[in-house]
Amino acid sequence: MGRRIKVGVLISGSGSNLQSIIDRIEDGSLSADIVCVISNNAGAFGLERARKHTIPALHMDHRQFAGRSAYDAALVETLQQYGVELVILAGFMRIITPVLIDAFPHAIMNIHPAILPAFPGLHAQRQALDHGARISGCTVHFVDAGTDTGPIIIQAAVPVLDDDTEESLSARIQVEEHRVYPRAIQLYAEGRLSVEGRRVIITPPVPASATSLENPAA
Ligand code: GAR
Repeated sequence: MGRRIKVGVLISGSGSNLQSIIDRIEDGSLSADIVCVISNNAGAFGLERARKHTIPALHMDHRQFAGRSAYDAALVETLQQYGVELVILAGFMRIITPVLIDAFPHAIMNIHPAILPAFPGLHAQRQALDHGARISGCTVHFVDAGTDTGPIIIQAAVPVLDDDTEESLSARIQVEEHRVYPRAIQLYAEGRLSVEGRRVIITPPVPASATSLENPAA
């Protein structure tokens, strides 16, 4: 186990990924403390999840700020006030600016519901279905200045089924999201992640769990 790191989680909605992180902290498998949860959306259920676990839960309304940079400056100030070391984007549906990125170099993670670099941006599951992809999944990555372009930490793949809807595919991907996001944070807490160019190096390395996922099966 690494030292306990102070995590700030940014959300916009349900917060099921936030919940998975809370659960792993509470069962002792993640050496982190969530010091604050911030939502740009007052109605985000994730704020209630945080309060239920006595985590400071803040609504910061982006519409009250002159622009993206001004909003991000306020986020940085709040995150720093709470002593945040690692920023976790967990369904935070806003484009972030260099104001936030530069304040937390290689210390902002995002989870995206596709195997990047396929299907970045909005409606990734819809994009995978429309494209006819037979495998999709999720990606945890460090955030850089692009949209879903930063160095990749963990990916998990799932099959796309012929009768999938956006909802059924999203649900299958979310099972994986809830496993891999806490793992990525734990690797960070253990000081095992470093970034070399586009690549994230994990030290000591973790072996791959399977040699292949094939859909349709052979
Ligand atoms: C997650 O599926 C996450 O991958 C996605 O939003 C959902 C949030 O769910 N993020 C993006 O699409 C980012 N572009 P949650 O609020 O239940 O954690």
